[in-house]
Amino acid sequence: MNYLEHFQLDHEPFSSAPVTRFYYNSVQHSQAMVRLMFAVDNMRGLAVCVGDIGAGKTTLARRMLDNLPESHYEAALLVIIHAGITASWLLRRIALQLGVESPAEEKLSLLSQLYQRLVHLYESGKKAVVLIDEAQMLQSRELMEEFRGLLNLEVPERKLLSFVFFGLPELEESLMLDPPLAQRVALKYRLEPFNLESTEAYIKHRLRMAGSRKMLFTGQAVESVHRYGHGTPRLINTLCDNGLFEAALARRAVVDRSLVDQVAKIIGLDRQMEMSAAVRARREAGVLVPGESSAGQISLPGPQRKSVTMKEIDSFLDRLGKV
Ligand SMILES: Nc1ncnc2c1ncn2[C@@H]1O[C@H](COP(=O)(O)OP(=O)(O)OP(=O)(O)O)[C@@H](O)[C@H]1O
Ligand SMILES: [Mg+2]
Repeated sequence: MNYLEHFQLDHEPFSSAPVTRFYYNSVQHSQAMVRLMFAVDNMRGLAVCVGDIGAGKTTLARRMLDNLPESHYEAALLVIIHAGITASWLLRRIALQLGVESPAEEKLSLLSQLYQRLVHLYESGKKAVVLIDEAQMLQSRELMEEFRGLLNLEVPERKLLSFVFFGLPELEESLMLDPPLAQRVALKYRLEPFNLESTEAYIKHRLRMAGSRKMLFTGQAVESVHRYGHGTPRLINTLCDNGLFEAALARRAVVDRSLVDQVAKIIGLDRQMEMSAAVRARREAGVLVPGESSAGQISLPGPQRKSVTMKEIDSFLDRLGKV
């Protein structure tokens, strides 16, 4: 059964396909975007964006790529799809994506081609930016050293290449494989989960974009979606999509709290919530939870010589305002 007809919708509002029409500029996404754009606009070298599973990192990376105009940037998005990639594969991919036409097999020649290309881009007034998604899969010291080498390519006044790493909080550990690289992180940002307000605005935005003329979730249903979904967009999508389906089956005009509870039970999110409550209780009681990692907490490695000051961010925002 298709619920589009029942609710008179043009599209599925909570599809997880990366459709730009559905992009919602949440407070969380917009705060991350402003900072990451600042880092690449000023060619800071390496910026890092971490967030939990389904928080919207890939969505943000794609949006960022769209926001980097071709007239000013040579930009590329590279997705690390396998933890076993080699340094030479990585270098070749970066060279290809930045427009090196026939990347050499031999490393020194390849580096020289890449350097020439970057200088050419610099001279034509363009900034070279590579966004790396799933960066927590970069799991070897050799790979991290390669990035450090690339970040060392510079002309007197600025770097020739900027990177933005998007990944799960474990990315912190990958960066620590090469402490000098970790120390070169110029800006680090954590993409936070939606708060209740953003969850509600996100649901409304998606419904509107799908052609709905009214809010199809009661206030209490939204609260439930937020509670079970922990403000994670992917979980919000699943809960809302299933909620609409169940409501259509039951011939209801809106999704209420009991339907969301029912859906959370079916997909097992209620158990996950009980489990995390148990973990919290043990932690509060000072009992160590087996297998718990420090992932999720951000600690900045080493002295942050190149960190961005709030003043610099402010003046960047001022400039944006004047455009
Ligand atoms: N700002 C947003 N606007 C609209 N939809 C969003 C937004 N952020 C996330 N989503 C939705 O949530 C889903 C999950 O987001 P995304 O794939 O970007 O998360 P992720 O952090 O990359 O997840 P993973 O950790 O699994 O890689 C997306 O398919 C998209 O539908
Ligand atoms: Mg992703």
